[in-house]
Amino acid sequence: MAYDYYSGGAETMTTVALNRAAFSRYLLLPRMLRDVSRVDTSHELFGIRSSMPVWVAPMAMHGLADPVGREVATCRAAAACGVPFTFSTVATSSLEEIEGTGNANRIFQLYVIRNRDVVRRWVTEAEARGFRALMVTVDAQRLGNREADARNKFKLPPGLALRNLEYLSSGSTAQARDAADGSGLMALFASEVDDSLTWEFIPWLRSITRLPIIVKLAVQYGVDGIVVSNHGGRQLDFAPDGLAVLPGVVAAVAGRVPVLVDGGVRRGTDVLKALALGASGVLLGRPVLYGLALGGQAGVERVLRLLRNEIELAMALAGCVSLKDVGLHLLLPVPGSGV
Ligand code: FNR
Repeated sequence: MAYDYYSGGAETMTTVALNRAAFSRYLLLPRMLRDVSRVDTSHELFGIRSSMPVWVAPMAMHGLADPVGREVATCRAAAACGVPFTFSTVATSSLEEIEGTGNANRIFQLYVIRNRDVVRRWVTEAEARGFRALMVTVDAQRLGNREADARNKFKLPPGLALRNLEYLSSGSTAQARDAADGSGLMALFASEVDDSLTWEFIPWLRSITRLPIIVKLAVQYGVDGIVVSNHGGRQLDFAPDGLAVLPGVVAAVAGRVPVLVDGGVRRGTDVLKALALGASGVLLGRPVLYGLALGGQAGVERVLRLLRNEIELAMALAGCVSLKDVGLHLLLPVPGSGV
């Protein structure tokens, strides 16, 4: 049940497959005879520093991978590797526990529920507890049709709770645990998440917080950053992969705010390609959960270190000394791939 939930996506999973395939549309053209004895992978966005141009993506329910460590273990691993951690609304740890991890670079991901008093409470508390930014997810007013979860009757195992949703009096956590049939998560989303949400929400959010607001996509509503994402292929099946639309988004934004991208990033060369196409950074999803399931905090650290080493080596081999050297000149579109 947990593996299907983590690895799966919506319906035919075409978008899941596209996210990986996208990176194969580009080859890398290295530059030679550059002094790469010291390659600097360090990165900063919104004042949030990272040892590489990668943040941990918001993902629900880390307790399915590590029932003891949960998001706390992931957040600690990210801290040990100098990587920012995004904490999902649908987490199995509390805001207080995440504050206690010692990771200074924490972002709170917001699913907008109908109960705006609780939304306000999350935002205020995240700000008070030292979270550095808000990431508003706007592609999940309804949950995608994840058929494996419905077949498995996906539910939250005993001993875990959706701590942020405990602020609701409606017993939503129980709903995720006890859906009569079908996916418990689907039942929870249908009852709590605001499917009437529009852009008017953004100015309201701006009015209640000083934190940078990142939308996981609108500059005109006063956001501070954008994540180009198809939710790891878990929402609208046949949504395009991030790389396909990234150059258009970057051109439209024209440098006004940073543009991040996610989906299918697995290798250091993937990160280079995303940056070369104009991304300001990438989010890393499933590999983090797989590391957590296999080795707890140490497993996540290993995943992040492998990726950082790959980025560093790929930069050296491509002749890039710092992230500033990564640009479109590195890319050779594969002939016939449509780019
Ligand atoms: C997600 N994602 C997600 N996004 C979000 O904004 N809030 C959430 O709670 C979740 N939950 C979630 C659970 C699981 C199991 C996965 C795999 C993904 C989407 C996530 O932030 C990110 O967009 C993708 O995971 C990136 O793609 P890769 O790296 O997993 O291919």
